[in-house]
Amino acid sequence: MQAIVKWASRATMKILGIESSCDETAAAVVTDDRQLLSNVVWSQLKNHQPYGGVVPEIAARAHVEAIDRVIEEALKQAGVGLDQIDLIAATGGPGLIGGVMVGVMSAKALALASAKPWIAVNHLEGHALTVRLTDGVAFPYLLLLISGGHCQWLAVGGPGDYKLLGATRDDALGEAFDKTAKMLGLPYPGGPQIEMLAREGNADRFDLPRPFHGVAHCDFSFSGLKTAVLHTCRELADENNELSLVDKQDICASFQRVAAECLTDRLGYAIMAYENLGYKGRQLVVAGGVAANKYLKQALEQACLDSGYSLCVAPPALCTDNAAMIAWAGYERFIQQGGSDYDFEPKARWPLNK
Ligand code: KG4
Ligand code: ZN
Repeated sequence: MQAIVKWASRATMKILGIESSCDETAAAVVTDDRQLLSNVVWSQLKNHQPYGGVVPEIAARAHVEAIDRVIEEALKQAGVGLDQIDLIAATGGPGLIGGVMVGVMSAKALALASAKPWIAVNHLEGHALTVRLTDGVAFPYLLLLISGGHCQWLAVGGPGDYKLLGATRDDALGEAFDKTAKMLGLPYPGGPQIEMLAREGNADRFDLPRPFHGVAHCDFSFSGLKTAVLHTCRELADENNELSLVDKQDICASFQRVAAECLTDRLGYAIMAYENLGYKGRQLVVAGGVAANKYLKQALEQACLDSGYSLCVAPPALCTDNAAMIAWAGYERFIQQGGSDYDFEPKARWPLNK
């Protein structure tokens, strides 16, 4: 087990976090001694579901409409006023630019009005540091970041210290879950739907491809897996182009098993790359929306055990997008480098290791 982070005793700092980079409008208040005072997530799911994915224009408009109310609710649930907040942290990217602009503008306006510092946070850093808030995990650690837009291995040496060890060469894992679900006629987001149907399915019925299996690097590829699911769906569909429930369950279970095998197979090479850089913390952290999947977590738990590593995954509600992670990462970066300037511009792209 890694040592638990202990902060020196001093007046508690309260951080307001704001997240608006995709389809969740979120605000939260956390303290520097790792208390979660509030965590409000307003999902726009219903606005996007008719389109089978997130529509950027709809997302931006929905963020504008919801953000003030969500921030107010987060402050209310935390039992604090803006005057008791010490730092305002907002996602500054990467993400859908319209949404990121809404969050950044709100943070700047609140900071200006209350004469408080503000900081722009990299959304991926929010995911990367969540376990420091939830479990006090110490640096360094090996991070598997699996979300809707990202799929990568990183060595985490400290806030702002990230070394990319490997990444997907095509689809992110969350994207593969979402696209597979869409082929099966399941609603967006597909990950939770697939996990649910897979529970009743036969995971060994379909033999799906596992690209790079046994190849000595830790990159991923998921586009072939998605295409194989498409062919399987076409073969099984009836005259109305429909699949039976059993077929859907078996496809979900087989897809999920193969996804888990890809992750556990790549883990060995990621550990090698991590240790070759001289890192000694035998701790794997899995973060991002896909980390909410219990089946994948169990598979990685076993693989970690076999490699002498321990596994830490945040609770599911803090794996998917939320503002508590933004508040926490904002705090860690603020201590290190101070706040952001008012001329900070929202970024659609913002790699973690830059
Ligand atoms: O981190 P996140 O909330 O947003 C991004 O930053 O992308 O991740 C969203 C992704 C979606 O692709 C969604 O299908 C996936 O996480 N996801 C899951 C589960 N819950 C969310 N994938 C597999 N199993 C789940 N239980
Ligand atoms: Zn995310």
